Amino acid sequence: MKVLSFGSLNFDYVYEMDHFVQAKETISSLHYSRNFGGKGLNQSIALAKAGLEVYHAGMVGLDGQAFIDYLQKYGVKTDYLTKNESLATGHAIIQVCQGENCIILHGGANEAIDFKQVDEVLSHFEKGDLLLIQNEISSLAYLIERAHEKGLKIAFNVAPMNDKVFQYPLSFIDYLIVNEVEAKGLGNCDSDKIEDIITSLQKAYPQTEIVMTVGSRGSYYIHGQELVHQEAFVVQAKDTTAAGDTFTGFFLATLFQGSTIQKALQVASKAGSIAVTRNGAAQSIPSIEEVKN
Ligand code: RIB
Repeated sequence: MKVLSFGSLNFDYVYEMDHFVQAKETISSLHYSRNFGGKGLNQSIALAKAGLEVYHAGMVGLDGQAFIDYLQKYGVKTDYLTKNESLATGHAIIQVCQGENCIILHGGANEAIDFKQVDEVLSHFEKGDLLLIQNEISSLAYLIERAHEKGLKIAFNVAPMNDKVFQYPLSFIDYLIVNEVEAKGLGNCDSDKIEDIITSLQKAYPQTEIVMTVGSRGSYYIHGQELVHQEAFVVQAKDTTAAGDTFTGFFLATLFQGSTIQKALQVASKAGSIAVTRNGAAQSIPSIEEVKN
């Protein structure tokens, strides 16, 4: 089985704040850094660190060579990563305050992925291979349709959640990976109770394998009436950026290396809890040795 992670790459401009900036306010940051990020890149790195061989497909601008070098440093294959001559690489402006964050995205080259690139990349993959996607690139509905047609297994981390999600052929997705807020949106659920959110997902996606993270209350695997729960590992959060990406990569890698669902949830929770104790996105993802220890 080959693993294709088709997703975004962003320069993350990270500002540490003593409070999030308000309307009509101008404030100074406490600290600034520029890091490698993008949900696609973060999840490729997490898959690779968890032990899978991964191909990352996506698009950067002419300023994006550093992303190719960074992915290669962690063993991610970049054969299907292209450079756009006229657009800049995507970026994110991230404020971090007391462990929480808020993010503004500019898609840049991530939004220039077209049907031609999708067809070219998919021509190198076949039935039984795994495709991992998030909601930060263009042509996603087409990518899902073509990948399904070819018989790839599809895992979709529904982040960031927005109205576009409902235009995608979600019935072709094998694994949906969501946090609580994304789960409520997907299940069209008004209640904040975990049991109600789970019921709404079971009703809306009875065939799909769903993983839902609920912060300090752990994570759930939901498949029809089958339910598996994993407690969270309690840590002092410094920066939650890429915690979900770390969880997603480690969950899928552990599962596809032959472990049980319970074990995959446990390894993913440990990896995610280490990531939140560190600053930044891709740089906060632990190695498999750190997770085991
Ligand atoms: O999930 C975290 C990521 O979301 C950041 O790295 C940022 O680039 C945005 O894509």
